[in-house]
Amino acid sequence: MKALILAGGFGTRLRPLSCTRPKILFPIVNKPLLEWTFERLANNGINDVILAVSHQTETFIKLSRVPRHGMHIAYSRDPLRKPLGTGGPIKKAQKLIGYNAPFLVINGDIFADVNYAELLKTHKEKHALATIALHKVADPSRFGVAELAENGRIKRFVEKPEREKAPSDLINAGVYAFNPEIFEYIPEGRKVSLEREVFPKLVEEDMLYGCVFDGLWTDIGKPEDFLETNKTLLSSIVKQQKLKTKGNVEIRSPVAFDKGVSLGEKSIVGPSSVLGRNVCIGKSVQIRESVIFPYTVISDFSTIDNAIIGENVVIGTNVKIAKGCVIGDHAKIRDNVSLVSGVWVCPAKEVSESVLTPKCIA
Ligand code: GDD
Ligand code: MG
Repeated sequence: MKALILAGGFGTRLRPLSCTRPKILFPIVNKPLLEWTFERLANNGINDVILAVSHQTETFIKLSRVPRHGMHIAYSRDPLRKPLGTGGPIKKAQKLIGYNAPFLVINGDIFADVNYAELLKTHKEKHALATIALHKVADPSRFGVAELAENGRIKRFVEKPEREKAPSDLINAGVYAFNPEIFEYIPEGRKVSLEREVFPKLVEEDMLYGCVFDGLWTDIGKPEDFLETNKTLLSSIVKQQKLKTKGNVEIRSPVAFDKGVSLGEKSIVGPSSVLGRNVCIGKSVQIRESVIFPYTVISDFSTIDNAIIGENVVIGTNVKIAKGCVIGDHAKIRDNVSLVSGVWVCPAKEVSESVLTPKCIA
C-alpha cells in the first residue's frame, strides 16, 4: 500500500524556527518528525511513500538525510510559487499513487499513534470512499471537526468552527484512507482544500466515514505545541539515560541528550528537556522544560526556562531566557541579557540588550 505525506505547508505559525527548516524536519526528541512518520509506516508494513512537497521543502529533506527506514520515496512537487493546498497535491500525485487500491494520506505535521492497519480495515468494512482518523480533544475549534452517525458515517464536517459551534469534540487527526475514486472529487491544477471543498461533498453523498483513535496525538502547529509534543513524548518513551558527567551536574528526569552533548559543572538540566547533538553547556547553567537544537552553546550562569533555542545559537554568560521565548538559528544573545516571557528572535540576529516586553526581534 502507498502513503502520501502532505508536507508542503509553510509553517508560518512556527516562525522564527520555520524560516530555516520545514515543519516535517522539526526535531521531536532529537529525531526529525518525518523520521518518526517513516518509522511508524514501516512498523505498519508500509514502505512506499510519496512526499507532496514544495521545491524548497524537497531540497531541505534531501540535504538533511533523514534515515529512511527502508522507505521507497517519490517526490511530488507543487508548482513553483503555487501551493496546491491539502487536496491539490493528492490529485497531482494520482499517477504515482495509482488507481488500483486504497491508499493513505497523512498530514506531515502531526505526531500521532494512529493504527494505519485498523484505519484501513474500517475503511474496507464500511465500503467508504474516504475514512478519516478522528481524535477527541478538549478544544476542537483549531481543527476540522466531525459529527458521527451511529454506524461510523460522518454526517457533518466543519473546518475550524467557532468553539461554541463545533458539532462534537472529535477532530480530524490528519490521517485518511482513500479509494482512488477520490481523484474525481478534486479539481485539477489549482489549490484545493480537502477539508472545505472535498469532505463536505463526500458527506452529502454519505461516503465519508470516521474511525476514532485514542493515544498520543499532537499537531506541532505552534511553538507551544512543538514544546508540548517533545515533553509528552519524553515522558512516555524516553528511558533515563546514563550520562558521564563532570563535577556535580544534576539531571532531573525526563531528559534526552543527543550525541556529543557536554555539560559544565554545577549545571542543572531538566525536567522535560531535550538537548540536540553537540550542544555545549557551560558551568552553573539551568535548563528546564526546554528544547535546545543541535550545535548550540549556552555559557556559564545562564538560565533557560520553557523555551526553544534553535540550531547553532550562541548564548553568552549570565543570560536569562524566560517562558515562551523562541530563538532562531544562528542568533547570538550577548552576556547579561534577559529576555522576558514571549520574546522571539529571528535567525542570525544579535541581541545585546535586555528585552523587557514580549516582541519579535527582527
Ligand atoms: N504539498 C502541500 N501543498 N502540502 C500542504 C499545503 C500545500 O499547499 N498546504 C498545507 N500542506 C500540508 C501541511 O504541510 C500539513 O502537513 C498538512 O498539509 C495540513 O496543513 P496545515 O496547514 O498544517 O493545516 P492545519 O493544521 O491548519 O489543519 C489541518 O490539520 C488538522 C490536524 O492537524 C486540517 O486537516 C484539519 O482538519 C486537521 O484537524
Ligand atoms: Mg497543521
